[in-house]
Amino acid sequence: MADREAVGKPRIRECANILHGEGGLRPGVHIVLGSGLGGLAERVKDAVRVPFAGLPGFPRTSVEGHEGSFIVGRIGGTPVLVQSGRFHYYEGVGARVVAAPVRVGRALGAGTLVLTNAVGGIRSDLAPGSIVLVDDHLNLMFRAPLAGPVAEGEQRFPDMSRPCDPGLMELAESQALKAGIAMSRGTYAAVAGPHFETPAEVRALRAAGADVVGMSAVPEMTVARAGGQRVLAFSVVTNHASGVGAGAIDHEEVMAYAAEGGERLGVLLERLVPLAGG
Ligand code: HPA
Repeated sequence: MADREAVGKPRIRECANILHGEGGLRPGVHIVLGSGLGGLAERVKDAVRVPFAGLPGFPRTSVEGHEGSFIVGRIGGTPVLVQSGRFHYYEGVGARVVAAPVRVGRALGAGTLVLTNAVGGIRSDLAPGSIVLVDDHLNLMFRAPLAGPVAEGEQRFPDMSRPCDPGLMELAESQALKAGIAMSRGTYAAVAGPHFETPAEVRALRAAGADVVGMSAVPEMTVARAGGQRVLAFSVVTNHASGVGAGAIDHEEVMAYAAEGGERLGVLLERLVPLAGG
């Protein structure tokens, strides 16, 4: 039986040592694959997969489309840590668990964090399938990801004036252009979920300056910035946000658009990772 005491208290250094031991690499780039975006994992060469279940203190993920494992390998020859699945507040876990994979990546040596996620499009021009490069965010999860003792290597009061790295964003845009992949910039509003928003909530989010809405990314970005990592975040629009389109939001449809957008994102990441370095 699992050690119940230890579950929910991921032991960061031990986890990083296991990943180093299994994969034999010190990846400089950590890529997180969001809901339905797990297909990107197939682009990793010499892949060694380490399920979350084998890492001390990691709970299992429970959401369909989040299989819950790390993959150590290479993309375009560059060592990477790919994370298939993530933890969300709506699973009932706390900030320490949600942030644990980012801290494990950093302890392993990743200076760059690349986040991918599924979102609802608030801006009406963001049709399902669109890719948005996140340039700012609103934390509307009503949780403080850094509350509690300061974690190893992190600042108590990190600056958040540039949550995503301007140089990496420009690199991403130039590579998207070369690959013929359409992408626009936008502000990501993070809500706790797991229910989708009401139309009134989406109107409020739009008035607050949000272009897309999702249930992840922001705790990870915040923790990464506190630890001095460079961050890049891509959102795949899987549906018009509530009240923007005509119909109801359907989880199956969300997953189908995520898979389709994820394909294009995979092409982009394959070009980008070797340039984003280590
Ligand atoms: N709202 C919040 N999260 C989401 C959505 C949405 O409409 N679509 C995919 N993730």
